[in-house]
Order: sequence, then C-alpha cells, then structure tokens
Amino acid sequence: MASKKRDSWSSNFGFIMAAAGAAIGLGNIWRFPYICGENGGGAFLIVYLACVFLIGMPVLVGELLIGRKAGIGGAGAFSALIKKNKKLWGYVGLLGILAGFLITSYYTIIAGWTLEYLWQSFMGNVATMDAESSKNYFDTFMASNPRQIFWHVGFSIITIAIVSGGVSGGIEKVASILMPVLLFILVGLALFGLNLEASMQAAGSGIAKSIDFMFHPRWEQFTAESMFQALGQAAFSLSIAVGTMVAYGSYLKKNENIANLGAIVVVMDTMVGILGGLVIFPIVFAFGLDPEAGTGLIFVTLPNLFSQIPGGAVLAPLFYILLFFAALTSSISLLEPCVTHLVDAHKYKRIPATLVSGAAATVLGIFWIVSSSLEQTGLFTNIDKFISNLMVPTNAILIAIFVGWVLDKKMLRKELPKTSQLYFDIFIFLCKWVCPVVVTTILIRGI
Ligand code: PHE
Repeated sequence: MASKKRDSWSSNFGFIMAAAGAAIGLGNIWRFPYICGENGGGAFLIVYLACVFLIGMPVLVGELLIGRKAGIGGAGAFSALIKKNKKLWGYVGLLGILAGFLITSYYTIIAGWTLEYLWQSFMGNVATMDAESSKNYFDTFMASNPRQIFWHVGFSIITIAIVSGGVSGGIEKVASILMPVLLFILVGLALFGLNLEASMQAAGSGIAKSIDFMFHPRWEQFTAESMFQALGQAAFSLSIAVGTMVAYGSYLKKNENIANLGAIVVVMDTMVGILGGLVIFPIVFAFGLDPEAGTGLIFVTLPNLFSQIPGGAVLAPLFYILLFFAALTSSISLLEPCVTHLVDAHKYKRIPATLVSGAAATVLGIFWIVSSSLEQTGLFTNIDKFISNLMVPTNAILIAIFVGWVLDKKMLRKELPKTSQLYFDIFIFLCKWVCPVVVTTILIRGI
C-alpha cells in the first residue's frame, strides 16, 4: 500500500488550512450569495445547512477516513479497503476523480476572471467603472477568447507549480499563508460592509435589510429546483465526492482525530459562506443593486460599487485578492486527486503527474472557452450544473453507501477512536440511511 516515502501533512494546522482552503473558494464568495439570493434567501439557508450537516459532513468525514485508512488516494483507496467487488468500488473512486478533473477545467476559467479583475483593480481601472461601463467591460471580456485563455492558462500554471511542490512542501505551505490572510480580509470587508450600510441609513438600507434577506425565509421562492441547488451547492462548497478529501485524508497521520478535523472544516466553510453573503449583500442593498444578479454579481455589480464608495480604489484589489486566494487553494485541491491517483495507482512521479493532469485540464478549459463563446449558450453553466448538481451528488450517495453498508464497522470504529459512541452511531446512520435516501429523492425530483 503506502510507500515509505509518502508525503504527509506536517501539522494539524497545515491540514486544516489546506482542507478549509479546498472547501472555501469561489463557491462561497461567488456562487453561494447569488444562489442564496435566487432561491428564497433564508429558506435556502435553512435547507443548505441541513444538507451540509446531515449529508455533507458525514460524507466528508467518510472520505477522509477512506483515504487515511487506505494510505493511498484515488480509485485504489476504495478497493484497498474491501475484499469483494474491488473493481466496482474502484470505479466509484474514479467517478470522483473524473468529476474533480472536469471541475478543475472550468474552475480555473472563473479563477482566471479574478486575475483579470485583480490586475485591472491594481491598475486602478476597476474603481472607476460606472454601472454601464462595468457591464460593458464584463461583456467585452467574456467575448474575448484570447484574454480569457490568457488568464485561464496563467492561473493554471500557478496551480500546477504549487501542486508540483508536493503536499507538505507545496499545498500545505501555500494554504497556511493564504488562508489566514483570506480570513483576515474577509472579516475586514464584512465589517466594512456592515459599517458602510450603517452609515448609509439615508439610502433606506440598514443592516437589518441584508440580514433579513439572508436569514428570513421566503419559502414562496424556494422550489424543487432550489432543493437541488442547495444540495449541489453544499456538496460543491464542502469539496466532497470529487476525490479531494480522499486524497487529502491519505496524507493524514494515523493519530489525527478525523471527526474533529472534518467538523472544523465544515464549520469554517459554512461560516465563510455566510460571511461571504454578509460582505456582498449589505453592499448590494446599500446601493440598491439587484441581489439576484447571478454570475455577474461580483464581476459586474461590485466594480460599479467600488467607484462609489470611499476607499474603493483600495477595497477593489483587496476584494479580488481575496477571491484569487480562495480560488487558488481550491484549484490546488481539485487537481490533487488526479495527481495522487496517477502517483499511487500508476507509479508516476509527482511532477510528471501534475504536468500531465494539469495540462489536460487546461486544454479542456480552453475548449470550454472557445465553444461557449461560439455558441453563446453559457455552455459551462450547464456543465457546472450537470457536474455539481448531478454527478457529484450521485457520487456522494455511492460513497455514503460504501461507508454505511460496505465497510467493516469495527474497522470504522477503530479509525475514529476518540469519537463518542453517539457521534459514531449518528455518523453511520447518516451514511447508511439519510444520505442515500434523501439525496436520491432530491435527484429524482430535481431531474
Ligand atoms: N469548494 C470549492 C469552492 O467552494 C470548490 C471545490 C469543489 C474545490 C470541489 C475542490 C473540490 O469553491
């Protein structure tokens, strides 16, 4: 199984930063606020939280456990833990890796947009855009394949360089620096946003409005499709069922308390999602912008805002640095499962493994850019929906079944020695029943 030289996280802190870095990403700051806004605000939040804690958390802990126990990541981790049907369960592992690979290919495109905006904000061009020019700017940028390809490739190269550096020497080091900075900027911006709103009572806003928007359930806007979205968003945001947590788990030392580590990552991710909303919505309301503005919210509405507020020229780069860091620690974690798989299953060395998988994802990304602008159909919005709302939840069901029904309970208990019996029983119950039944129902109703 694991080779003697296998890399591992050098500290608990390092692992938490890397895993929280995987979870906290564009999903929290870009995707969560607008999906929450479109699907009933507080109503969405309630269902989202239920999905996170009842489905996401057990699957995440299960994946860490699978990786750690097997001592390898990728498809082999599943087969290593069982005697029968090894091949079949290996395919479940592969499905996750495939989903992770596909997400990498378009995640780095949107991450590239953050680089474009970061660059422009450093050049002082973002904080001078008004409503019309920021819309025009975004549209022109979207229509320019060379510019999108440039940033997509640039961002991918940064990701590949870090992943090539290894787990403790690359991923952990970078996450341990970027994540604290990210959290610091985020809290700062949230405080600024709330303050800004408080000082703009005249605009008829008030903190109450955005808190109300996020926390007050508007069930009439919450549909069967919203349920589907909440589940997909929870899975996407927690980075489950794409091979990431299995790979990250495989680098965990045997004495680490997986249940606690998993819970910390889940809570951090959820808090950042909410904080992301609290950064964006007060600002949106203070300026009477549309909270349901969709994917363009942070690229179209916010630049317009930065031009109007005091300190906008400083806040704009800070905001896009935040996004860039969030995207980077996530894209690293998206590429890692493929790399771990190539290393563990196909005996690649790390650098060639990273180059091969990174280059393949980058080329696929270029294909998305070219084809979506050819058709003007928002091709990758559909791909994103297909993967995050269908492929990933399906894989989550299979992982839950693997943990709840297939794996030996005594082995599982041994892997969670410091966990109370009650927590353990709840964990098994959620994997065995709640996750498969609920997720299947949501999928069937949502399709
Ligand atoms: N969770 C990340 C985000 O919210 C995206 C991601 C998905 C990262 C799956 C790794 C694996 O942006």
